[in-house]
Amino acid sequence: MLRKDADTRYPVNELIRKRWSGRAFSEKMITEEVVEQLLEAASWAPSSMNEQPWRYIIGYKGDENFERMVNLLNPRNAVWAKDAPVLLFSLAKNTYPNGSKNKHAWYDTGAANMNLMLEAAANDIITHVMGGADFLSAKEEFGISDEYDPVVFIALGYHGDPDSLPEPLNTRETAPRKRKPAEEIILKTQSVNEPAHV
Ligand SMILES: Cc1cc2nc3c(=O)[nH]c(=O)nc-3n(C[C@H](O)[C@H](O)[C@H](O)COP(=O)(O)O)c2cc1C
Repeated sequence: MLRKDADTRYPVNELIRKRWSGRAFSEKMITEEVVEQLLEAASWAPSSMNEQPWRYIIGYKGDENFERMVNLLNPRNAVWAKDAPVLLFSLAKNTYPNGSKNKHAWYDTGAANMNLMLEAAANDIITHVMGGADFLSAKEEFGISDEYDPVVFIALGYHGDPDSLPEPLNTRETAPRKRKPAEEIILKTQSVNEPAHV
């Protein structure tokens, strides 16, 4: 299994360092039970008014949902995501039960997806979020009402051989992960244009 643990300045939790967005999947299937375990982890995310607006459509390799999802992905994603054993379509319910707009639905759905991804990492399962897809067609294809916003697709699977990927994905698969320095993400309150001194 290829590890690309984050090279952190501080002793960040191991699971956070371990998760990364791989693209090389082995042929090993993820069982329905394990998928349900990951979705349970998602369900324990915090959400505005405990509304839990996250929704998922599951595609198992070979079934109709999976084929539909692959066809909705941008070709640059489909080329590797088609080999994942499981694809998830992540959606957010955009209204509260009283019909008012839930402005936090996407935030909450992202939090749930992160829980899912960390649980997956704990079980040596790769997760890879994809925003590159035709979401308008996805809504139509899956018959989704306007109450739900498509958010992302997520590919899941066990680690495979990076050499199974075409270039430049093969090289990218083994390249170190990078992040902006803290100076760039901490804003001064006086001016958002100047970096803070940390
Ligand atoms: C909302 C969102 C959309 C993304 N869309 C894509 C995508 O379409 N294709 C892709 O290969 N990776 C996609 N990614 C993965 C990011 O490129 C990846 O998370 C980032 O490069 C950091 O790498 P890491 O997850 O390994 O730390 C997306 C990630 C997020 C959160």
